[in-house]
Amino acid sequence: MNGSWWQDTVVYQVYLRSFADTDGDGVGDLEGLRLRLDYLRDLGVDGLWLNPIYPSPGADHGYDVSDYTDIDARYGGLPAFDRLLADAHARDLRVLMDLVPNHCSAAHPWFQAALAGDPAARERFIFRPGARPPNNWRSAFGGPAWSKAGDEWYLHSFDAGQPDFNWRNPEVAAYFEEVLRFWFDRGVDGIRIDVAHMMFKHADLPDWPDHAEYNILAQNQPEVHDVLRRWRKIADGYGRDLTLVGEVWVPAIDDLALYLRPDELPQAFYFDLLLCPWDAARFRASIGGGLEQIAATGATLTWTLANHDVHRTVSRYGLVSYTDGPPTRPRGTVDVALGVRRARAAMMLLLALPGSVYLYQGEEAGLPEVLDLPDEARQDPTWLRSGTADYGRDGCRVPLPWTASGPSFGFSSSERTWLPQPDWFGEFAIEPQIGRPGSTWELHRRALEIRRGIGGPLEWIPADRRDVVAFRRGDLASVTVFGDEPYAVPWGEPLLASADAGPGTVAPSSTAWFRV
Ligand code: GLC
Repeated sequence: MNGSWWQDTVVYQVYLRSFADTDGDGVGDLEGLRLRLDYLRDLGVDGLWLNPIYPSPGADHGYDVSDYTDIDARYGGLPAFDRLLADAHARDLRVLMDLVPNHCSAAHPWFQAALAGDPAARERFIFRPGARPPNNWRSAFGGPAWSKAGDEWYLHSFDAGQPDFNWRNPEVAAYFEEVLRFWFDRGVDGIRIDVAHMMFKHADLPDWPDHAEYNILAQNQPEVHDVLRRWRKIADGYGRDLTLVGEVWVPAIDDLALYLRPDELPQAFYFDLLLCPWDAARFRASIGGGLEQIAATGATLTWTLANHDVHRTVSRYGLVSYTDGPPTRPRGTVDVALGVRRARAAMMLLLALPGSVYLYQGEEAGLPEVLDLPDEARQDPTWLRSGTADYGRDGCRVPLPWTASGPSFGFSSSERTWLPQPDWFGEFAIEPQIGRPGSTWELHRRALEIRRGIGGPLEWIPADRRDVVAFRRGDLASVTVFGDEPYAVPWGEPLLASADAGPGTVAPSSTAWFRV
C-alpha cells in the first residue's frame, strides 16, 4: 500500500446543527465549529466529517439537499465554509463533506421542474403512472416508498421530501461529477457518500418478493460500481490523495469488499462491528472477519461505533433489558454507568485496531442517548413514518452540553435549542472533563495520543477466558474484558486503562493497553 493518510486517520463526525451555536438561534453553525477547531486539535483527531450543510428544507435535516453547490445560509453560507476550511487546514485538520447522490430535496429545482411537467426533468427521477403504487417497496423510514404527485407516483427510498434520482439517466451522473469537482476544487480532503450502495434500483422495479429485512431490488445493484469507479478516477486525478468514504449497508462482508476494490472506494464504514452487542465472541468474530475479508482485497478497515443514525454507544452497551427496536436503536432499560464504562472500553479497543476510526461528536464525553425526549419534540421523519413504533434518531442528535450549567449548557446563548436538552445533560458536559484525570474526555485524548505510535498488523493473543479479547500490534497489547471478573495478565502497569485495576490486572468491563 502507498501509505495514504486516510488509511489510519481518526475523523470526528460533526453533526453541525448540534455542535455549537454562535448566532443564538438554537441551531449550530459553521462559526461555532470554527471557534472550536482548537478543541478538536487538542482532542487529537486528524480531521472532521461534516454531515450535509447544503441549503435544505430540512425534511431529513440536510439529507434533503436543494442546492448541492452552496452552504445553507443558516450555517453561515459559503463564506463561513471557506473560513472554516482554511482554519482547519491551518491546524492540519482534514475536512470531509457529505454528498447525497441517491436523492435530493423535493425543493430542488430539478424536481420542481419535473412537477411542472418538464419532460427532461422528469427523466431525472423515477415517476410511474397508475392507480396504485407501482410496487410494494418500503421507505427506510417506514411507510410506502412511493408518493403521489398529480396523477403519478414518484419513488423515495426515504422521506416523501427526498425523491430518488434516476441514475440510469446520464444527466444525473454528469451532474454529480460536477458537484464532486466543485467541492474538491474548493479544497475539501474527502467526501463521505451517503447510502453509496443505493443509487441504482432494479431496472424493472419489480415487487420485493418476500418482504425480507433487506430489499435486494432497491439497492446494491451492480451498476453502482461503475459510478464509484468514475468518482475514484476524479478524486485521484487531483493528486492530493483525496478520500471517498462510502456509507454502504450490505448484508455480507464480501459484498462490502466489492466496494473497496482497488479502483473503487478508498474507504467504507465497517458497520458489522457497530451492529455487535457487548459480547466478546461477537466482537472477536467481527474484527477477525473484517480483517480477513476486507484486508484481503488490499483495503484498510474503517471502524466506527456510532453516528447520527444510531443510539449512542453508552446506551447500546448499557442496555440491560431489551424491549423492542432494531439493533442500532434498541429500547429497554439502560444502566448508564455500566454503559459509560463499556463505551470507554469499546473506544479503546477500537483505537488500537489497524485502520481508520470515525468518532461521533459527544462520544468523547461519554454522552448517553437521550431516550426521554418529549414526543412532541421529536423531528426525525422515522418517528411519524413508522407510526411512532421507532423513536428514530433524534436522541443522538441533541445539541452538545459544553458546560455543566448556563443557557443550553454552553451550546448557544439561547435557552432554546432545536431539540431540547434534558436536565441531566450537564453531568456529561465536555469542558469540565478537560484536564480532569480519569474523565472520559481525557481517556480519549490520551488514547489518541498513544495511538499515533501504534503500528503493524493485528496478532491475536490467545486468552483463557471467553469474555476476553486480546491482541497485539507491535509492542502494544490491548486487552478488553467484557465480563464482570478482573483478568490477570503477565504485564505490569498499563500504559492506559479505561478503568483502574492493580498492576497485571484488567478490570471488568474495561480495556487496558500494555507495552509488551
Ligand atoms: C443515510 C444518512 C441518514 C439519512 C439517509 C438518507 O443513511 O446517514 O442520516 O437519513 O441516508 O439520506
